[in-house]
Amino acid sequence: MPQTARISKAVIPAAGLGTRFLPATKAMPKEMLPVVDEPAIQYVVAEAARAGLDNVLMVTGRSKRALEDHFDRVPTLEAVLEAKGDERRLAAVQESNNLGDIHYVRQSDPKGLGHAVLCAKWHVGDEPFAVLLGDDLIDAQDGLLAEMIRVQEATGGSVIALMEVEPEKISAYGCADVTVIEGEDHVRVNGLVEKPAPAEAPSNLAVIGRYVLHPAVFEVLERTEPGRGGEIQLTDALQELATREDDGGGVYAVVFRGRRYDTGDKLSYLKAVVTLAVEREDLAELRPWLKEFSAAL
Ligand code: G1P
Repeated sequence: MPQTARISKAVIPAAGLGTRFLPATKAMPKEMLPVVDEPAIQYVVAEAARAGLDNVLMVTGRSKRALEDHFDRVPTLEAVLEAKGDERRLAAVQESNNLGDIHYVRQSDPKGLGHAVLCAKWHVGDEPFAVLLGDDLIDAQDGLLAEMIRVQEATGGSVIALMEVEPEKISAYGCADVTVIEGEDHVRVNGLVEKPAPAEAPSNLAVIGRYVLHPAVFEVLERTEPGRGGEIQLTDALQELATREDDGGGVYAVVFRGRRYDTGDKLSYLKAVVTLAVEREDLAELRPWLKEFSAAL
């Protein structure tokens, strides 16, 4: 049934240990790694804000204090920049504390993505909400989240984002079996499987880190047993919702064809930094340098 209340809450799981980026992440949260000059997490919070999600809950863990500090004001730093008349840097410093109302909850036990989302239950309450995975950087131009919110409001179910990947890469992702809906851009999800072996994958459509979920997912997560990797998987809870016809049931997907980077993966992270830096006017010298550099490779 279509809903009328505007979706305003975003949940950002950020409790992961960042083992793929050691030793850089030994004493610093992986979400704080800079992509050009902003920490990766700021792109994600800004993406939520652009889609109208100004109530953000970060699910953090031990050693994640830097995240709270980053989205908080720093009056002493602001005063120094103001006294110097450095408007540009002052605006850059203030940007991260003006992105929305940011709340924090701790996931004390790293029991998986499904468990992290369940930690948001009391904050979210009984309304649809978005989940944005901090590692996934989605190109700002694409408006993916806004489209997913539109599909959630139209269908009343839950909405995931899918991306075509090379078949042998599917085992790094959740994978969906879908049916095209006549006359619609979104598809219906018949089933989901977390990180299948390529031979067992129902398609090459990979789940990427954006979700707009019906609150019915919480009740399912409460009884979802550990799955792949011994973790409580969001994919498993969504698999149940996909097969349900009742209120809260039904999973739909938007197939994303834009640019996405996994900033938790070294190669993808480097590509994100270069791509975004090349587009920046203040770094215009990078492009000719890159051409020269690659010609000499
Ligand atoms: C998580 C999800 C997986 C999804 C992926 C997208 O896995 O469990 O279904 O495809 O995010 O980035 P993770 O990468 O946290 O292991």
